[in-house]
Amino acid sequence: MCGIVGYVGTKDASSIVFEGLKKLEYRGYDSAGIASINGDLDIRRAEGKLANLEAKLREAPLEGHLAIGHTRWATHGAPIERNAHPHADETRAIAVVQNGIVENFMTLRAQLQQEGHEFKSDTDTEVITHLIDKFLAEGDELVEACRRAFGELQGAHAIAVVSKQEPDKIVTVRLGNAGGVIVGLGKGENYLASDIPAILEHTQRVIYLEDREMAVITAGGVSFSRLNGQAISKEVHQITWDPISAAKGPYRHFMQKEIYEQPQSVQSTIRGRIDFTTGQVSLEELPLTPAEAKAIERIIIVACGTSAYAGQVGKFMIEKLARINVLVDYASEFRYRDPLIDDRTVVLAITQSGETVDTLAALEEAKSKGAKIWSIVNMHGSMAHRISDGAILMQAGPEIGVASTKAFTATLADLFLLGMYLGQLRGVLSAEESFELATALAHLPELAGEVLAEGYNDYTKLANLYHKQEHFLFLGRGPNYPVALEGALKLKEISYIHAEGYPAGEMKHGPIALIDDHMPVVCIVTQDHVYDKMISQIEQVRARNGIVISLINEGDEEVAKKSDHVLRIPKAHPLLTPILSVIPLQLLAYHTAIWRGADVDQPRNLAKSVTVE
Ligand code: G6P
Repeated sequence: MCGIVGYVGTKDASSIVFEGLKKLEYRGYDSAGIASINGDLDIRRAEGKLANLEAKLREAPLEGHLAIGHTRWATHGAPIERNAHPHADETRAIAVVQNGIVENFMTLRAQLQQEGHEFKSDTDTEVITHLIDKFLAEGDELVEACRRAFGELQGAHAIAVVSKQEPDKIVTVRLGNAGGVIVGLGKGENYLASDIPAILEHTQRVIYLEDREMAVITAGGVSFSRLNGQAISKEVHQITWDPISAAKGPYRHFMQKEIYEQPQSVQSTIRGRIDFTTGQVSLEELPLTPAEAKAIERIIIVACGTSAYAGQVGKFMIEKLARINVLVDYASEFRYRDPLIDDRTVVLAITQSGETVDTLAALEEAKSKGAKIWSIVNMHGSMAHRISDGAILMQAGPEIGVASTKAFTATLADLFLLGMYLGQLRGVLSAEESFELATALAHLPELAGEVLAEGYNDYTKLANLYHKQEHFLFLGRGPNYPVALEGALKLKEISYIHAEGYPAGEMKHGPIALIDDHMPVVCIVTQDHVYDKMISQIEQVRARNGIVISLINEGDEEVAKKSDHVLRIPKAHPLLTPILSVIPLQLLAYHTAIWRGADVDQPRNLAKSVTVE
């Protein structure tokens, strides 16, 4: 989704901003632009990829030591140059970039037009430019004009403003949850970004703006205030990621790199949280007494996309290990359905970015109704992390590919640990059981490594055979049903093939009508308590000439004989199997997308962090 970068200092501002925007490409965008101040305000914008903007900058470079830039993901108005940010006022004195949606833009636009302002774009953002312009014309200085303009906006926003009249500063604000506003601190220079990777190579010292906080950034320093004008001081955070881990390295795509990082990211997620000699789990960021753990009657998991499917696997884990009733809901549904919550309910958000607007709104809804709120989150310091009563940090490292992979498996490892932790505190798990579960968990990174070993499964061949197919069906049962959903999601996200995930037992109630000799059906048939049931689903697919691609445990000749193709995984504890079974499905989607020539890391229309409703 939209990205913002800003720089003020002594270096060539537009190149720093452009490089920062490149680091945010993964968020998904459809046009981009940069404004710089060098005596005058100058702007370059282009639709499409950053290469188009780069070409314009090569033809007509932007000079100056202060600039703001933006990658836009269209909400109001088509993704064309006229609608790209930054937006300037009529006299080109100020420029504005914004993430989010001005919900009252129709009213504001009509008012401003009546007052004589002429609009050049179809965007909601442009009203902000005209509003600031109006207050400047009334004699306000930039900061005051911005403050008044921001006060008129409804909705959630991250905004940055520059002016040629006050060429030494960038004014920025965070209003609600439209993504982060991060100030990066340098020496004699300072930065602004919507996401850490944009500025990580320049500084690891950052300050996060909270709702209704503003910052005025100059080369010499940064001042912070609330929207009402009250000055505040802010805590400086040290980012521990190194810039290298946010780079592609020898891999062709970030998604590929992140798939192959999973043994390591699962390992980091587990490390330090479990004593493998006793099986005892400790979650520092979620301190609980046995009495508190026993008082929990229900956990409601709220999440979106891949994180929601991780939550569905988590339901199996927590219910089994801690005997707590778990509900899983899409955050976008939960927030509007007046959920039944009390103080014995925990609402657990799962969010890689920690900034997904629906998930944040669901947490707020839960908090206002008296629930405890927890989160499993990958981005340290993100909004979800900060507003939660307790958090589990994933330790997956930066995930850049839009289609989530390593965050899914890291989340599953966290959910398993959470299930054990609660189970131990509630006296559900015996010492013996804890030890067995810990041993199963300890082997997991190694088993994930086996699945990823060269030649273990031939994804290229399989993907080549079926990449021209128009539909795919994915079937699974128990904790492998959400894995089927995730397998289908991965395939549609990056290869644009229509794919559906289904609980295998439901196939006969509808999807079976679709099966013929053109329908590949991926069946997750691991050797667990529903193994025989899965075999009968395979028979039903075969009887209709469907193409059976089975995901089996190593050495399962019986299912192999009944299948057109097999993908293998090693045997693991049934509750941990999803961490392994998802990997071949990620790679099947990846190789299918490659054969189809699709843009794996930045699939069309999708965004990494969805900061609008
Ligand atoms: C977007 C991304 C998905 C992600 C979902 C939830 O749709 O493209 O990969 O699963 O948002 O994101 P979150 O950051 O809240 O986990």
